[in-house]
Amino acid sequence: MSLVFVEAIPYDSISSLLRKVAYGLATTCVLGTAVYIGYSVASPDNHSSKRYRNPELNDEIEKVVSSLKLNYEQLKHIMHCLEEEMNAGLSSETHKQATVKMFPSFVRHIPDGTERGQVLALDLGGTNFRVLSIKLRRNSHIELTSKIFLVPQSVMIGDGKRLFRHLAECLAEFMEKEHLSQSGICYPLGFTFSFPCKQESLASARLTTWTKGFSCAGVINEDVVKLLQDAIDEKGINVKCAALVNDTIGTLMACAYKEPATSIGLILGTGTNACYIEDLDKVGTWNGDHDEPKQVIINMEWGAFGDNGCLNHIRTKYDEEVDLSSINPGQQTFEKMISGMYMGEIVRLIILDLLQRELLFLGHRDTYGDYKTPIYNRGGFYTKFVSTVETDEGIKFSNTRRVLEDIGIRNPTFDDCVIVQHICRQVSKRAARLAGAGLAVLINRMGKPTVTIGVDGSLYRYHPRFKRNMERSMEGLVNKDLKFKFALSDDGSGKGAALVACVAAHNAPEVLTKHTREIINDKTSEENSD
Ligand code: GLC
Repeated sequence: MSLVFVEAIPYDSISSLLRKVAYGLATTCVLGTAVYIGYSVASPDNHSSKRYRNPELNDEIEKVVSSLKLNYEQLKHIMHCLEEEMNAGLSSETHKQATVKMFPSFVRHIPDGTERGQVLALDLGGTNFRVLSIKLRRNSHIELTSKIFLVPQSVMIGDGKRLFRHLAECLAEFMEKEHLSQSGICYPLGFTFSFPCKQESLASARLTTWTKGFSCAGVINEDVVKLLQDAIDEKGINVKCAALVNDTIGTLMACAYKEPATSIGLILGTGTNACYIEDLDKVGTWNGDHDEPKQVIINMEWGAFGDNGCLNHIRTKYDEEVDLSSINPGQQTFEKMISGMYMGEIVRLIILDLLQRELLFLGHRDTYGDYKTPIYNRGGFYTKFVSTVETDEGIKFSNTRRVLEDIGIRNPTFDDCVIVQHICRQVSKRAARLAGAGLAVLINRMGKPTVTIGVDGSLYRYHPRFKRNMERSMEGLVNKDLKFKFALSDDGSGKGAALVACVAAHNAPEVLTKHTREIINDKTSEENSD
């Protein structure tokens, strides 16, 4: 049996295998026996005649994998390009053609924990959306109830009016269930709408383009707050949308409520994006007042970084394929190299390529050409599989085997598992390093001695080493005198929208009824709770 591939894989993979072998040694006291037992468990004897791997195959695989690697110079160059794109997005002369749009959010104040009230929130950013009822209490204490609703595929790509009607219907259902639909009470609502919007005020924002698989007709260039409010009014529910925020802003706000050093909001989920606090005098596109605090949170929309071709030198043929087969070719280049919507597909395309070049799954010619197996179909390798494969630490590869069987590879060999894990690791490491480089630009630019990054998203939450890989790459890229840390935001995007709506409703009480003022001042509930 060949363990040759192990010699060709990088140090981190080798060391994890060695750790396991050492563990085997300690428990069985006989290294040879441990390896033998481990290896026999890993590769049952059937197909053994097909399992010999020519070491040259591994060189071919290593060529594919090394096209995903990014060194320090490349990351520094990417940082430089991103900063140029950011400046272009912020300048009124170049904003129009800039790819990284750097939209001012109209959110100027970071919450300080004194906010109070009861607010509703809608959080739309993917196939699920949530309705939340949030009570902001004393000492940054938040009480929250929420319900997740599905956005059917037909609604995601159907007519815009239908989408907003669907949101209003779910909101009405939730309010009914939570006994919030008493007449006369108008609740303020924060709307987390996680798509690129040119904001005209806190409660007015025009969609510039759809991302993440949405493409509802009749919404681009329209004011999405108005579309939502029309649907709410049509449904006859007593709710007033007081603010629209991007999920990055919601995340930053929710974290800042607990930790005031939070100056960056980051999403690593279906999509990816970041926001940060920028000085007003650097925001050429800002038309609002210049009162204190002279800062505004910028929704970067960094997912579009690279749409002008500036990342082409690091893109692989797999990235190109992912892009071409997507609903928005040529758009969201950075996002397509990082986020959960695309990561599994990149891995699938690499595996498929190796399979078709007869470099992988040598014992499984029976599955070749069986186009019903998921590996042949777009979306057949979920991003959650990447996380599952990477949780395997030893030579048993039980998770990896399960995933491979799910995608139609029966009885994968030990080598198959090592290779697939190696591919997953490199694809996710590249994503983490790219995101880390983006964050390093923001930290260096703000120059604050300590920065907390509020972060949310399934990729960050569930991937076993994304955070670690991001931190490692950032350590070499962030200026030495600046410190940073990550804070996971729970329900951040919804809570953050509620906070913004609460502050907005306080600042513009004329838009609300007397009852609503009582609700946001939380007179009754606060008194009752004490
Ligand atoms: C996409 C959206 C962006 C959002 C991100 C994360 O990139 O365009 O607005 O913040 O996904 O959900």
